[in-house]
Amino acid sequence: MRRPVIAANWKMNHGPTEARAFMAAFLASYSPRQDRTVAIFPPALSLTTIRDALAARRDVLLGVQNIHGAAKGAFTGENSAPMARDAGATLVLVGQSARRRVFGEPDESTAKKCALALQYSVTPMLCVGERIEQRDRHETEDVVVRQLRAGLPLLSKKAIASVLIAYEPVWAIGTGRTATPADASAVHDVIRRELKSLCASSDAAAEIPILYGGSVTRDNAKSLLAAPGVEGLLVGGASLDAASWSAIACT
Ligand code: 13P
Repeated sequence: MRRPVIAANWKMNHGPTEARAFMAAFLASYSPRQDRTVAIFPPALSLTTIRDALAARRDVLLGVQNIHGAAKGAFTGENSAPMARDAGATLVLVGQSARRRVFGEPDESTAKKCALALQYSVTPMLCVGERIEQRDRHETEDVVVRQLRAGLPLLSKKAIASVLIAYEPVWAIGTGRTATPADASAVHDVIRRELKSLCASSDAAAEIPILYGGSVTRDNAKSLLAAPGVEGLLVGGASLDAASWSAIACT
């Protein structure tokens, strides 16, 4: 298996003071490893704190949890791709389920954000996933394919090959209910097939990492990562404690 991408999404947790303490503890217990890529998505206010903590550790990537669909302007409270890049982020989450559900972000805005991010050398991690009622109606495949098609249309076929995808079933996020490795594999397979139709070649599509997210813990990380087609993990709650996160990062 190619090297997995193991990412922490802190959501609205850990301001600069907590982030500094977290990074001291995490970096003391996690040594650079060639066999994986580790990334952290803190709140925007903690980006520069983590960037500074990582000055001597280029092995850990930094990402922002959201950007606006415009590069600048009168959008009070928002952060833009060039600002996130300036603060040290090289990755951005797009379409994470809280953005879609809690903040009502439509599919079209995920497309704009992916395009704008790449324009400023910030790599989008496009998040897709079905709600429980959609799963119960056997609509999972339709939902993730629609979200993929809606998120990537402004990108050239070549550019699509540079994004990352996270499959996060909404019913598994923060619920303690994890997809089984087999469930995750089945949906990752659907995503891979769709990526093949969107990219210039099957080889290019095969390079795109597809992460799983949703109630990942230090106890289930290994079996999820071992599932065929699961090339990384996007971890929420279990990434907030440095010891738990180190254990997952070392999985
Ligand atoms: P949990 O790991 O807390 O379920 O969150 C997953 C997630 O939403 C990461 O983006």
